[in-house]
Amino acid sequence: MSFQRVCLESDLIEGVARSFQYCRDGVKREGLILRAAHEIVAFENACRHLPVSLDGGTGDFLITDQNHLICHAHAATYEVSTGLCVRGPCAGLSLKRIPVTISKNEIWIEED
Ligand code: FES
Repeated sequence: MSFQRVCLESDLIEGVARSFQYCRDGVKREGLILRAAHEIVAFENACRHLPVSLDGGTGDFLITDQNHLICHAHAATYEVSTGLCVRGPCAGLSLKRIPVTISKNEIWIEED
């Protein structure tokens, strides 16, 4: 098990998500990270409806009222604080959360 630095905490602007690459179970994956209310949250960048990225590979994540993340494909709407889909074709399912550790302004995730 190793740790990967994702970005600086000070790089994150409330209401704006950014993507990052990481490795899990020997597979390269893409994550997204954002500042939600008073915490930093990260999820696998994969919709729970179909296996596509929430931003459609553009790097532009659609976030409304700073509380909901919307999939570009069919508008599944996820709470940014929990990852729970509250509206759309996968309502009731949640994005896969990636635990983060913050140390001295740096954000880290475990990688394997
Ligand atoms: S692929 Fe995300 S809502 Fe359909």
